[in-house]
Amino acid sequence: MPFVERYGPWAVVTGASSGIGRQFATLLAERGLNVLIAARRKDRLERLAAELVAKCGVQVEVLELDLSAADFLQTLLNATANKDVGLVISNAGFGLKGLHHLQERGQLDSMLNVNARAPTLITQAFAPGLIKRGRGGMLITGSVEGFMSFPWSGRPPMPLPRRMFARWARRSGPS
Ligand SMILES: NC(=O)c1ccc[n+]([C@@H]2O[C@H](COP(=O)([O-])OP(=O)(O)OC[C@H]3O[C@@H](n4cnc5c(N)ncnc54)[C@H](OP(=O)(O)O)[C@@H]3O)[C@@H](O)[C@H]2O)c1
Repeated sequence: MPFVERYGPWAVVTGASSGIGRQFATLLAERGLNVLIAARRKDRLERLAAELVAKCGVQVEVLELDLSAADFLQTLLNATANKDVGLVISNAGFGLKGLHHLQERGQLDSMLNVNARAPTLITQAFAPGLIKRGRGGMLITGSVEGFMSFPWSGRPPMPLPRRMFARWARRSGPS
């Protein structure tokens, strides 16, 4: 089955304003998928969207989204309601460095929400549609820090939500 038919016509990529997510969005657009790109830095997303539309001739929609917000999922679902989404890439994430007891509590809360709560809710929300289609996929960006502890990368701070989520994803077996 051709790639676009299997994973298209729309893909969703969170954390597409930089790094790996930006590359995912670019590679998918180059393969002919329309992409909804989400993150907080709207200016970066808009620049990427203009670039991909010009280069690949696909549709690109920008969604300014804070995944640590309590109601982020509804915002994402509203933005994708009229789209046939075949690929969901839950990529956004970040890690705090340093000693756990010195971290700012709001930042820890945000990290738990972005790294663990958001992918959990995103995969749960999009799975029924993908199952119904009978084709498509989900990709969750993890970290090796979810599998082993690194000095200073915080025993609890970074690894804990990632480890919890990595274990959950392995057991739930999304493919
Ligand atoms: N690079 C590596 O070597 C490496 C290794 C292991 C794992 N990873 C994981 O791979 C993923 C991408 O990493 P990267 O290296 O590409 O990092 P990055 O360049 O810092 O990109 C992180 C992305 O996540 C988004 N993000 C962060 N907080 C967010 C929030 N509250 N709401 C919405 N979006 C948010 C950022 O967008 P905004 O700031 O615009 O919101 C950005 O687009 C992360 O999950 C990271 O932990 C990376």
